[in-house]
Amino acid sequence: MSKALQPMFVCSQCGYETIKWLGKCPNCGEWNTLEETIVSPGKVSVGKSVARNGFISTRTPPVKLSEISGDTTERRLLTGIGEFDRVLGGGIVRGAVILVGGDPGIGKSTLLTQVAGTLANEYGVALYVSGEESSTQIKLRTRRLGINGDRFLVQNETDVIVIAETIRKVRPVCVVIDSIQTMSAPDSDSSPGSVTQVRSSTAILGDAAREMGVPIFLVGHVNKEGALAGPRVLEHMVDAVLTFEGDRHHAYRILRTAKNRFGSTEEMGLFEMAMEGLAEVPDPSKLLLAERNAANSGSSITATLDGTRPLLIEVQALTTASYLNNPRRVFSGVDSNRMNLILAVLEKRLGFGLSTQDVFINIAGGIRVDEPGADLAVALAVASSFKDIPVEPRTILAGEVGLGGEIRAVANLEKRLREAARLGFKSAIVSSRSAIPPKQSKIAIEVHAVDSLHEAIRLGLATR
Ligand code: TYD
Ligand code: MG
Repeated sequence: MSKALQPMFVCSQCGYETIKWLGKCPNCGEWNTLEETIVSPGKVSVGKSVARNGFISTRTPPVKLSEISGDTTERRLLTGIGEFDRVLGGGIVRGAVILVGGDPGIGKSTLLTQVAGTLANEYGVALYVSGEESSTQIKLRTRRLGINGDRFLVQNETDVIVIAETIRKVRPVCVVIDSIQTMSAPDSDSSPGSVTQVRSSTAILGDAAREMGVPIFLVGHVNKEGALAGPRVLEHMVDAVLTFEGDRHHAYRILRTAKNRFGSTEEMGLFEMAMEGLAEVPDPSKLLLAERNAANSGSSITATLDGTRPLLIEVQALTTASYLNNPRRVFSGVDSNRMNLILAVLEKRLGFGLSTQDVFINIAGGIRVDEPGADLAVALAVASSFKDIPVEPRTILAGEVGLGGEIRAVANLEKRLREAARLGFKSAIVSSRSAIPPKQSKIAIEVHAVDSLHEAIRLGLATR
């Protein structure tokens, strides 16, 4: 057998390649992810640059920075959807390849249709390539979203060579590929959605995008574990990775950056799914707190920081006597390892008898919080429910809980306090190790600095 047709086994998770089949991928440790593919040798050569796996090869000699020509005044495309532009670091960079991942039905197609629609209105013609839905289905969606039909091209195609040709010919202002898993590249024999296909398709489309200076959005499906389906190498081939998440039973959707070559990865944007598509949420903190009943025990408020924006979030906890040998621990919107840690600290350091209690912890509004700065609010919510005493009303909590029961500092406290003061909160319980803003900063909030969780609970549970 010639070397060209040697079968290869490629891990569908991480892209690891081996010539022998294995049950477990030695690179990422996943089981049953190695798929047989025929890898054709040589490079995927498209246009001027020679790319393999999406990376530009270095056949050209090095040049001095000062001699590099081309437009370096980075003019970004603005969609006018403020939340979207901000998440990308202030607009879309021309020629960028942006992967947008998310669960099925979360609204990826809706979001990108809206983005393409506004870009077309502002700058020219948008190209929407779908391998999933028929043109009629797309038309129905655009009508619902009120998009002008003359500057919005729809292409039902899965062959990336044809799509790359269209991009070169039409020179659209942006391209949406819905989804990358349905695309196929001619040089690999494996089925669409497989590692090799996704990888070569991305390489070919990415080349066309960079050559023409057209930003390209790739929709990517997410597997059961929440990771982007297909190889992780895909994440290395693109300039930005956005994830669109949310609870399908709630209207809120969060757009986050997992990677961004042109901006911070800390940004998040909040949207609300409505009949006319996704709407920006201008004052998320206010909205998230709207349904809170401060008189109930088990509810506390934390000020988290997502990127540059502070966000007030309600943490809810319920503890109740358990009839089970292994009491239930049900957590949603939070990291379970952190929750177990906080429960352990409450049990061991503060003597809360939680081992006989079922504990439920939830973030209101279907939001997810991953910041340790929310620990203190979680601990207070649990303590409040356990003792059935409400948390002091109009008080926010921000601090990380350490294993010794100590409270650790959070970054950017001033921003968080300002947001809390804006929404009418009167006091804050924070770590004494935090950079507490000086009196001159005139934030209308009383700051209680504490060292330990014990102190925080004494101060934080309402005495009246
Ligand atoms: P969709 O964008 O198709 O999700 P994805 O591409 O991520 O699979 O949209 C998903 C849901 O959004 C769908 O159940 C219908 C709903 N939706 C609205 O509520 N309002 C709208 O204006 C549109 C277009 C969709
Ligand atoms: Mg879709």
